[in-house]
Amino acid sequence: MTSLTLTGIGQLVTNASGFPGDLGVIHEAAVAVVDGRIAWVGPEARLPKEHREVELLDCEGRAVLPGFVDAHTHLVFAGDRSEEFARRLRGESYEEILAAGGGIHATVAATRMASTTELADGAVARLGRMLASGTTTAEVKSGYGLTTADELRILEAAEEAGRRSPVDVVPTFLGAHVPDKGVDRAEYVDLVIDEMLPACAPLAQWCDVFCDRGAFTVDDARRILTAAKDHGLGARLHAEQLTHTGAAALAADIGAASADHLDHATEDDAALLRGSGVVAVLLPAASFSMRSPQAPGRMLWDSGVKVAVATDCNPGTSNVESMPFVIAVACLEMGLTPEEAVWAATRGGALALRLEDRGMLVPGALADLVILDAPSYTHLPYRPGSNLVWKVVKGGEVVA
Ligand code: NIG
Ligand code: FE
Repeated sequence: MTSLTLTGIGQLVTNASGFPGDLGVIHEAAVAVVDGRIAWVGPEARLPKEHREVELLDCEGRAVLPGFVDAHTHLVFAGDRSEEFARRLRGESYEEILAAGGGIHATVAATRMASTTELADGAVARLGRMLASGTTTAEVKSGYGLTTADELRILEAAEEAGRRSPVDVVPTFLGAHVPDKGVDRAEYVDLVIDEMLPACAPLAQWCDVFCDRGAFTVDDARRILTAAKDHGLGARLHAEQLTHTGAAALAADIGAASADHLDHATEDDAALLRGSGVVAVLLPAASFSMRSPQAPGRMLWDSGVKVAVATDCNPGTSNVESMPFVIAVACLEMGLTPEEAVWAATRGGALALRLEDRGMLVPGALADLVILDAPSYTHLPYRPGSNLVWKVVKGGEVVA
């Protein structure tokens, strides 16, 4: 039996009530961990004796939160699109570069050239930096292969990265990211359904489709996600990112776990998402990096939709690994309160991935915690750009 007790916690975020945005804060708190799980949480004055007589970590008045759950990343890729990014800052458009065969296609070309080990090495390095920023669980999508063999290699690299990193990796098949260069869209959809899905499904838990102008239609997405279900994969969707297509309504109709991006979502979409329990995964760092208007996070939250925030870590639209940065942008640019943004980055992310055992600090939950070098979570939006993470605990071990 291994035990660790955190004492001297100035402010503890538990998310215990289950009510979105209610952080369940306890002051002057302690958390006892036994065998990787939370055994006890409460005011330190009431810490049971058995949890005092183990290894102690004195947090010296710092704030402690559940580890961040980053529910949307594309972190297995090779290559560098900094020059494309600079061209966009000089005025060129993302969609024009993609239509001209750059953008996602440039990353696909570089990813195909890289060995599976090189892809895993890159992912491990990114996961290491994410862990140092407090992320303890990350969803990871494929999507830069676009052939059966390359999509498989990306999922293998994701699996290897998860073995080599303390961060838990949740793999998603995104063969339907964009149609491969020179391949007719309808033919590509058939390839995804007939060949890629049967091959890739054993290495994935979820299937995602980029449903947008220049990528796939709502009908394509429905076909692919229905086929994915037959292979045991749950559905998530890139929805309403560049344009409004009806993808959020599709997510609600098929009972997807999440609809992600939602920059162009409407009040009608919000009503559908709320009614069907689809989590809205908002990606404020992507809109920030694209210099495009933020998703209507305030409207979605006020409509009663469950909201998560995530990095969208990818080489094109959001080369961002830090959940503290995402929380800051969610507050400063999207209009969420600090409490909403912190909840969305922890419990919201866990709900988006349908993970019941994390995103909150209650007895029985995984002992995934982030200790800020600050007295309160309010420092996350207040001090953007500073590394505010003091230590990270994953499954009861101090790992960063
Ligand atoms: O989430 N929307 C599609 N996919 C990614 C971008 C991929 C890229 O530009 O490389 C996204 O924004
Ligand atoms: Fe994405």
